[in-house]
Formats: sequence, C-alpha cells, structure tokens
Amino acid sequence: MKHLLFAASLFAATSSSAAVAPYIPGMGEIMGATQMRHSKLWFAGKAGNWALANYELGEIREGLDDAVRYHPVFKEGVPVSKMIEKFTASPLKALENAIGEENEKDFTTAFDSLTDACNSCHHAANRGYIVIGRPTVSPYTNQDFSVKSK
Ligand code: HEC
Repeated sequence: MKHLLFAASLFAATSSSAAVAPYIPGMGEIMGATQMRHSKLWFAGKAGNWALANYELGEIREGLDDAVRYHPVFKEGVPVSKMIEKFTASPLKALENAIGEENEKDFTTAFDSLTDACNSCHHAANRGYIVIGRPTVSPYTNQDFSVKSK
C-alpha cells in the first residue's frame, strides 16, 4: 500500500510538471496572426472604426513584441529584435497618431508605410518571397467592421 501511494504521488508530481511546460509560439505563427491583424486594421480604418483600428494596432504591437521576446535571434542569425525596432517603430507611431486624430488620409499613408516595413524586414531576413500588400476584400465575412462602439 505504501508503495502504491508513493507511486501515485510520484505520478502526480511528474504529470503536473509536464502540464506547466510553457507554450512558445513559433515565428511563423506570430506572423500569421500579424497578417490577420494587418488586414483587420485596414478594414477598421477604412470603415472609420477608430476604436477597432486602435485595438488591432495594439495587437500588432503585442505580436511584434512577442517576436522580439521569443525569437530575438531567428534562424540564420537574423537579429529580429533589432530589425523590428528599426523597421516598424516609425510607421507604428504614425499609425497611432493617425488613428488618434481619426484622419483617414494619414491612416492610409501610415498603413502603406507599415506594409513597406513588413516587406523590408522580410527582405532583410531572407524571406523576400513573403510579400504583403493592401487587402482588397475582407476574408472575415463573420465580422462587421463598421459598428462603432466602445
Ligand atoms: C524581423 C522583421 C519582421 C517584421 C517587421 C515582419 N516580419 Fe513577417 N516574417 C519575418 C520572418 C523572419 C518570417 C519567417 C518566419 C519563419 O520562417 O518561420 C516572417 C513571416 C511572415 C509571414 C508568413 C507566415 C506564414 O506562415 O505564411 C507573414 C504572412 C508575415 N510574416 C506577415 C508580416 C506582416 C503583415 C508584417 C507587418 C505588420 C510583418 N510580417 C513584419 C520577419 C518579420
């Protein structure tokens, strides 16, 4: 009986430590989510839904921060942490200002410079074949971008 109890507690200890193994999102996963947010940001801005645009901008920032945190140096020695700051800091700030001022013209210009930043970083990271552009049609037919609510 003593043996059984010992075995049971050992099992409990091992299985619980296995359960807390941290989940680390891969660079491709972070980028896939960033692509989705980049698209939603566009449709939110075009609909003049500035609260949603602001939300998507925050999510893009969080995703890029995760890329820096989890993959500071990516495969082939790509210095992701330095590159993200270098390429995206200024377009992200311009987007923040345009959204704050609810200015669609500035939003469009800043959005295009963020897209250029995505592509410049891909090019510098030997991923020049991953080319991002302005979305044309929302793939998210289950989301209404025009509802302006807090
Ligand atoms: C470090 C600079 C860097 C920046 C800035 C960056 N990316 Fe990436 N991106 C990468 C790297 C590196 C990969 C390749 C990941 C891999 O090989 O697993 C990638 C891959 C991707 C992919 C391919 C994912 C897939 O599985 O199909 C998409 C889409 C993408 N990025 C979108 C974006 C968008 C949109 C932006 C701008 C908002 C952006 N990226 C900004 C470095 C960057």
